[in-house]
Amino acid sequence: MTQQLRADGGLRHLITLDGLPRPLIERLLDHAQRYVRPLGEKPPASQALAGRTVANLFTEPSTRTRVSFELAAKRLGADVVNLEVQLSSRVKGESMLDTVYTLQSVHVDVMVIRDAETGVHGTVAAHVAPHVSILSAGESHVAHPTQGLLDALTVRQHKGRFDNLAIAIVGDIRHSRVARSAYHVFSALGVPDLRIVAPRALMPEPEEFGGCTRHTTLDGGLKDADVVMMLRIQKERMAQADLPDADGYFANYGLTAQRLAAARPDAIVMHPQPMNRGIEIASDVADGPRSAIRDQVRNGVAVRMAVLAEVIASRGAS
Ligand code: NCD
Repeated sequence: MTQQLRADGGLRHLITLDGLPRPLIERLLDHAQRYVRPLGEKPPASQALAGRTVANLFTEPSTRTRVSFELAAKRLGADVVNLEVQLSSRVKGESMLDTVYTLQSVHVDVMVIRDAETGVHGTVAAHVAPHVSILSAGESHVAHPTQGLLDALTVRQHKGRFDNLAIAIVGDIRHSRVARSAYHVFSALGVPDLRIVAPRALMPEPEEFGGCTRHTTLDGGLKDADVVMMLRIQKERMAQADLPDADGYFANYGLTAQRLAAARPDAIVMHPQPMNRGIEIASDVADGPRSAIRDQVRNGVAVRMAVLAEVIASRGAS
């Protein structure tokens, strides 16, 4: 796997949370927390990235992740370029590496990449110049590291600590990069009771998610949970024939207020969005008092600011 850390332990690339040292994760969360402001106040502004350029290179759809990376870079004083995939040369057959070399040649320092293909981020990171950082904004079903960090920050804000928590990750675990990054970050932070809840067809392979308990019923998986993390069914990563029937899925795995009663009374509900209301989650739960879903979005900008600042700072004085 591509080396994400510099020789001195500083963060150079962020492609996966798998294997990232706990002190580095905690430092990123602490740093991100300093960028969180109550809504209505001016967002934080810094010049930590003044004179630097960040490129967003998204070949899969994105709303929150793209907007929050762009705002994060701008709030740190960077120049930002957004590559529209439909307009870029990739559709003419130019490889991702050629696109990346082009961006490198015009002084882009950080490339934020979302791609449906496994391994693209690692390949690119292995080829860019030493001063360039690659940040994953989502890699196939494999990893979504800044989502994992923002999920951890959200849980920490609500629960204060990790070492006494039961966290249930519910839904299409098999195809979810959000679930994998959540698993990596919560394992690193010492969550003692991590559960995955899914119908058999959407469970990951047995060798994945080691240390998690597996539940095929929602009531069993949610029992006394502190955090309930719902996932979207990844239709785009499934054959049409494998798609679960929406009504049947909601009846068995949809989070309703009644179902949530199995969790602890102070349990929070999370979802990375986009949400399929009425399929994996009922609207009154998504918008209800226990929902931390909008906090996740707010925290996304703060986490991305922390990661951008960290990779630029790790370059030293260059
Ligand atoms: C997720 C993604 O793209 O992986 N969205 C996001 O970044 N918040 C989740 C999803 O698409 O289901």
